[in-house]
Amino acid sequence: MWGGRFAEGPSAIMREINASIPFDKALWRQDIAASKAHVAMLGAQGIVSPEDAAAISAGLDRVAAEYEAKGVPENWDLEDIHMTTESRLAELIGPAAGRLHTARSRNDQVATDFKLWVREACVAADAALGALQVALVTRADEHAESIMPGFTHLQTAQPVTLGHHLMAYHEMFGRDRSRFADAHTRMAQCPLGSAALAGTGFPIDREMTAKALGFATPTRNSLDAVSDRDFALDYLMAATQCALHLSRLAEELIVWASQPFGFVVLPDALSTGSSIMPQKKNPDAAELVRGHCGRVVGALTSLVVTMKGLPLAYSKDMQDDKPPVFEAAGLLSLCIAAMTGMVEGATFRTERMRQAAELGYATATDLADWLVRQADVPFREAHHITGAAVKLAESRGVALDQLTLAELQAIDPRIDERVFTALSVDASVASRASYGGTAPEQVRLRVAEAKQALGMEE
Ligand code: ARG
Repeated sequence: MWGGRFAEGPSAIMREINASIPFDKALWRQDIAASKAHVAMLGAQGIVSPEDAAAISAGLDRVAAEYEAKGVPENWDLEDIHMTTESRLAELIGPAAGRLHTARSRNDQVATDFKLWVREACVAADAALGALQVALVTRADEHAESIMPGFTHLQTAQPVTLGHHLMAYHEMFGRDRSRFADAHTRMAQCPLGSAALAGTGFPIDREMTAKALGFATPTRNSLDAVSDRDFALDYLMAATQCALHLSRLAEELIVWASQPFGFVVLPDALSTGSSIMPQKKNPDAAELVRGHCGRVVGALTSLVVTMKGLPLAYSKDMQDDKPPVFEAAGLLSLCIAAMTGMVEGATFRTERMRQAAELGYATATDLADWLVRQADVPFREAHHITGAAVKLAESRGVALDQLTLAELQAIDPRIDERVFTALSVDASVASRASYGGTAPEQVRLRVAEAKQALGMEE
């Protein structure tokens, strides 16, 4: 493609280090679409003849059909998907193929192809996360009243509902969706026509190609357009945050599935056994979701480090933009699917969860709050009195509401029998009805809103 200036061909090492076809062949659909939009514009502008434009366009369709049927051939001599397609086009239609590359460069071509690919990845992530949210909301609806211990420092803190806990993840994945949508809106400008770096002298119509490819407008600065990979970074940042949320949920399911917790039984289809310990059922899918988060973070780090310090405009370093994005996108879609399956198929052991909430003195705050409200005790003092009650209950191996009134009154005479209504986990959860709180009525309101937003049947 550029042999004119060279006396010698590239060495084997040069060919190997230069070749991006092993990975950028994933861009073939976008490359064909962008070339078809470009040649239609070249024809409309009279830059190539109508006959040549038609022949090139039909030829590109034939190349696409071949790729679809047999895959993209990997020939390192042809470097990348752009040259591979152009070279096959030339074999199919002859010299007219050489007119396709008029008024463009691989620099604006690859920026356009890749941006189209990343746009689609944003849409795919949004859709997959929507399905995960539906699964979470469905299970939260079932468990709006199921009581479990809520933790801080992974120590039992206050009782919460399982529905509330699951809806916390619905919020996180909602923010992830908005980040992908936001990234997508910043990918609305088409680089095609920026050419190598400076624009072109041919009378091209950039509005036309931008529209044809589904962009809102052309990019405004050719130097920026060919050297910008913010869109890929935006995607990776959104993917990283999403992978992080998936990993936190995975971690909780792993802990909950352990025998000492016993809060959940994960679906067999997403677990594995042990080759030597027959009793084991390992949460491998969840562990891999947790592990894959590290690889997504690695992908982001990789592209950040590639881009830092690159002068304008294109440098070949930027060819390394694609593997991390492709890897992250593949991992993310797999992890979202695995997590959706786990949420859908998990069996929550609600009796165990309730017992754990009852045993962990999770209603200690309720006793303190009761002293403040009913006996006008300052909260700090109430906290101290409650601590004494917990200490006593602990030494006797009973729950707070199993202490006798006499025992409680020995700690503080202002306590009376009404206190018992506040000490059950059900009363505790029901009382936390502030907006966004854990009370079943609040959870049901949030679930109803979410169902409507997600287009679920009521
Ligand atoms: N394969 C290249 C990439 O992915 C295409 C752009 C090549 N441009 C160039 N001036 N060598 O970045």
